[in-house]
Amino acid sequence: MTNAETPAIDWDRLGFDYIKTDLRYRAHWRNGAWHEEGLVADNTLHISEGSTALHYGQQCFEGLKAYRTEDGSINLFRPDQNALRMQRSCDRLLMPNVPTEMFIKACQAVVAANARFIPPYGTGGALYLRPFVIGVGDGIGVRTAPEFIFSIFCVPVGPYYRDGLKAQIFSVSDYDRAAPNGTGAAKVGGNYAASLLPGTQAKQAGFADCIYLDPRTRTRIEEVGTANFFAITKDGRFVTPHSASILPGITRLSLLHLAQAYIGMPAVETDVFIDRLDELQEAGACGTAAVITPIRAISHGEKVHVFQEGNEAGPVTQRLFDTLTGIQTGRVEAPEGWIVKV
Ligand code: PLP
Ligand code: COI
Repeated sequence: MTNAETPAIDWDRLGFDYIKTDLRYRAHWRNGAWHEEGLVADNTLHISEGSTALHYGQQCFEGLKAYRTEDGSINLFRPDQNALRMQRSCDRLLMPNVPTEMFIKACQAVVAANARFIPPYGTGGALYLRPFVIGVGDGIGVRTAPEFIFSIFCVPVGPYYRDGLKAQIFSVSDYDRAAPNGTGAAKVGGNYAASLLPGTQAKQAGFADCIYLDPRTRTRIEEVGTANFFAITKDGRFVTPHSASILPGITRLSLLHLAQAYIGMPAVETDVFIDRLDELQEAGACGTAAVITPIRAISHGEKVHVFQEGNEAGPVTQRLFDTLTGIQTGRVEAPEGWIVKV
């Protein structure tokens, strides 16, 4: 039975922190098939100490959000895209695919079962869903696991970067996040383990996070550790890096479409050179957790490139934010297939 009581959460002060919600979804892969356990209350996993997820990083995850709309209904934003990306991550790490329909149904079940945790319309918060697949079962050699777990839990969240739509300062990292032909395009834990040290150092130095350059030439911007990079050029184009080693973000994919179809601006994936930042008018980080975080300045070695003085979003960034969040929360008509109701 679902609990109808409103949780004691200050919706306006939500950050991006773990909060235990009521129920999570579980399925187990054994003998060549998924066996659905459905919704469970236990938020811990009991797995073999020899699980490949623990030793060899055989795991991947996703991130998507459910939004409360003005009319009280609940929207999922492009869950089919998360299902497809998770299938690509699983292929890269030799894990079984979760079919798209099973993925979306599981998301809907988790949201419906935890509806009391969805931040109210107008607070800017959302229910963040964290699907993941892990390799489990007894093992010790470097080979794919005998069994897998697919699970989804959810957490009510506010902005990932402090202050939401306020512009932040980022630094360029000396470390690489991913190798040229590595796993950068897959949403696998190893990429995030590699980003812990550079990200922590950037935050300790007072930056919101760090930006990674392309690992082959270190001349082009790739992405932020938890979001993609985009910019508006001085000649009025929406640009975002073209690279095989960045995570192909769903927010970025959506902004490429929205810039053209809703704002009438050419939008392209292209090279963004770190020594040509003066060609850019506005810059930002975009992702499910980050939503759109304007970039006020980028610190690179001895240089600091300042895009804007204040911390308000630039005019195009603001329009993109309003259009994207308008679609997610039902205020703006969505392109066909982008919204799935719970
Ligand atoms: N890049 C990285 C490294 C990320 O972790 C994320 C977040 O998921 C993104 C980009 C943005 O992807 P999306 O828009 O699908 O959330
Ligand atoms: C997301 O935006 O969904 C992410 O995965 C970013 C981060 C919290 C890892």
